[in-house]
Amino acid sequence: MENYPDLQSRSIDDLIRNLNTLPESVRSAVRNQGGGHFNHSIFWTVMSPNAGGEPTGAIATVVNEVFGGFENFKTRFNDAGTKHFGSGFVWLVRTADNKFDDCPWSEGHYPIMCNDVWEHAYYLTYQNRRPEYLKQ
Ligand SMILES: [Fe+2]
Repeated sequence: MENYPDLQSRSIDDLIRNLNTLPESVRSAVRNQGGGHFNHSIFWTVMSPNAGGEPTGAIATVVNEVFGGFENFKTRFNDAGTKHFGSGFVWLVRTADNKFDDCPWSEGHYPIMCNDVWEHAYYLTYQNRRPEYLKQ
């Protein structure tokens, strides 16, 4: 990136959402390293050992309307994390047409919450029991 000082003033959100505007020589590094940074930045703000419980307000309305209730949402979200092939993140995003689904935020969707399903997030405590980790 030191060869591209104009990129240093752009936010990580801008860089990730507009990968096609970056020089090809840095695109993969920005997607992989920058994406990892941004994913974890969201993860640390939405996950907490002392938080949780049922959502309230507008998000509760959406969870009820789109997923048929919080228990259904949790089942679907954790199922997506369990079935995620390999390492990565599972997401709840708002899509451009205001539907909620789990899919990558870099496709122009607005990220709401995520969970880290890289092995480093759970392996020391849960080994290969990813579903158990997701339920915590
Ligand atoms: Fe992680």
